[in-house]
Amino acid sequence: MLILLAVSWISLYLNDRAKVTKLSPKDCLALHNLNDLISCLDAFTVSPSFYDSVSYAAAQPTEEENTAWTSVVSSMLDVNANDCSSIKLPSVLEHFYVVTTFSDADSTRSFCILSETTTSINQNYTKGWGSMIVPASAKQISRRLHLSAPHPQADINTPQQAGAIFVLSGAHSLLVSGRFRSAYAMETDCIVPTQPRKGYFKTDPTHDINEPFSIANRAIRDWQNANDGCPSETCAYVQFHGKAAASCAADTMFISSGLGNSNSSLSWYRDPSLDIPARRLRDVARTVFPTWNVTIPPDDPDCALTATSNVFGRLINGVPESNVCMTEANTLTATGEFIHIEQAIVSRQSNVYDQWGEVFKRTFRTSCTEGTVEDSETGICKES
Ligand SMILES: *[C@@H]1O[C@H](CO)[C@@H](O)[C@H](O)[C@H]1NC(C)=O
Ligand SMILES: *[C@@H]1O[C@H](CO)[C@@H](O)[C@H](O)[C@H]1NC(C)=O
Ligand SMILES: *[C@@H]1O[C@H](CO)[C@@H](O)[C@H](O)[C@H]1NC(C)=O
Repeated sequence: MLILLAVSWISLYLNDRAKVTKLSPKDCLALHNLNDLISCLDAFTVSPSFYDSVSYAAAQPTEEENTAWTSVVSSMLDVNANDCSSIKLPSVLEHFYVVTTFSDADSTRSFCILSETTTSINQNYTKGWGSMIVPASAKQISRRLHLSAPHPQADINTPQQAGAIFVLSGAHSLLVSGRFRSAYAMETDCIVPTQPRKGYFKTDPTHDINEPFSIANRAIRDWQNANDGCPSETCAYVQFHGKAAASCAADTMFISSGLGNSNSSLSWYRDPSLDIPARRLRDVARTVFPTWNVTIPPDDPDCALTATSNVFGRLINGVPESNVCMTEANTLTATGEFIHIEQAIVSRQSNVYDQWGEVFKRTFRTSCTEGTVEDSETGICKES
């Protein structure tokens, strides 16, 4: 439904504005609110089975582009002025990426957008490395939250939902992948399936470390670790996912930290001496959404959507970077800084964005920068 709406919106836009010239992702930047921008960019997501080995290789970053991509992601997180001009876009990226200051009419706040500008065949992004959004000023950051949507279109509406929560909670960053998880329908050699025909694709960034989305994830974590780290009361890396109604059917949302359902993992999730953000999030979500089933692994040990093979989750939970394809995280090194939310479609709809904003504001304390204090009414930092 939402995809249909987005597609018909795009075609209206096409008929209206661009009868002759082809619609480009650059045109999205002329919109007036962030949610429309995210939907507009989403339409350029590289489609399922688009790549063959040659086109995939051509779209992957070179070593030099990789360094540049890491550096611009990090530079986005450093933004302090109010116009995004301090963000350095390395020249090797200038042909297909741009950094733009974007005024969101809904929140009346400004954001810096790192987004792709060109398409290849039929409105597919040329590269598909993804988009990143940060507040245009450090004063607009209320929480050390790094939100992301790794599976655009496959997990319907998760980019839009993550975008809405990003704004409402005053989070620090939003990252959205630019490729459908099966854009290159070739199995990754990173996470190898235990059962045949259950493999993961090379363009699925939750299971492949070479995806530009994964590279950006690591750059974000490195930045956070170099800037006060990620204390569990105030900080987390949150991935928004969508599940099919039939999987873990009783759960409206199933929240996990990347540990599985072994006895020791279940005990970790329950341990009262640990402050586990996923468990705090569950507790708050249960009060905000009293009619929904909100669970973590010990509440539904049969649900397999525990994210144990998520490469970013593994890294955050203490697996060395060189081993994340091979080794699961365990309770001895787990940090809980990773939050993985699997959701039924009702949980991803726009009529509950405000409640979701409340959930995040109540789960994570503010970390207001110098010169700002928390506004007790909105739960957002404002100039003091
Ligand atoms: C990408 O290209 C394929 C054809 O190779 C096309 O079917 C698909 O609709 C295109 N996707 C987008 C987002 O335009
Ligand atoms: C919640 O879970 C119970 C079973 O545990 C199920 O009967 C019920 O339908 C679920 N409610 C929702 C809203 O999914
Ligand atoms: C896990 O815990 C259950 C119940 O506490 C117990 O019956 C089972 O033997 C345990 N399994 C292992 C592998 O320790």
